[in-house]
Amino acid sequence: MASSASTPPTEAASETSERAPGFLDVLRARRSIRSFRSDPIPDAVIDQLLEAASLAPSACNRQPWRFVLVRDRDLLARMGETVKARFDEIRAAIPAGELDDELEMFRVFFSFFETAPLVVVACYRELPDLLARIVKRASRGDGAPVSADTTTGIHPELQGLSLAVMSLVLTATNLGLATTVTTGPLIAKKQLGELIGLSRHWQIATMVPVGWSDDDPGPRPKRKDFEQFATIIG
Ligand SMILES: Cc1cc2nc3c(=O)[nH]c(=O)nc-3n(C[C@H](O)[C@H](O)[C@H](O)COP(=O)(O)O)c2cc1C
Repeated sequence: MASSASTPPTEAASETSERAPGFLDVLRARRSIRSFRSDPIPDAVIDQLLEAASLAPSACNRQPWRFVLVRDRDLLARMGETVKARFDEIRAAIPAGELDDELEMFRVFFSFFETAPLVVVACYRELPDLLARIVKRASRGDGAPVSADTTTGIHPELQGLSLAVMSLVLTATNLGLATTVTTGPLIAKKQLGELIGLSRHWQIATMVPVGWSDDDPGPRPKRKDFEQFATIIG
């Protein structure tokens, strides 16, 4: 980033930049892959993916996540059919001829998970807003009522789950596996939850098909320049 020219590297910074490229290469290697070889995912790989997820940080270390890993081909086929049926219901309400090409692409993007040898269904449960609770308690004391920003609307449980999913995804990449993070299938979230036997406390946030790539994803979609999304202060 731009500031590196004005700040001479310290010993710690030099050490950091020596260690960084290997890990950045893993991040660069990750692409969204939508076609997989049929080779099954061994239990030992699943253990590594779950360890990666469990190492993620979470608010108060509550780990408010649940991962359902589906390898059962019949179940995956039923999940895919459910999403496609729901998609077709929605599509039927759109006048024929409108958005046809886009809709066909979305239908594939929402349902291709059914072809992967493993699908990780990542779920979270709502947590009470701990900061709001502390503020409320302070307001019940003898002093003046306290008002403060809280995490309402910030969804720490979803933030924690997202970090766990990213740990899992990058570990998969590091093992030579391909993934895609998908939320499209959630047009049938309720039915998918029933198919995988999810209790009502849990919400599906994302589904991540995992497998060995059988796809050339083409060039990486352009990313924003650093200046477009980052500000360096100081
Ligand atoms: C929250 C989220 C939801 C996504 N949902 C879908 C999806 O439903 N189907 C799909 O094919 N790709 C989905 N993607 C993948 C994006 O399209 C992809 O990450 C983006 O185009 C950048 O491409 P890259 O991952 O190859 O760098 C999703 C990604 C994220 C982070």
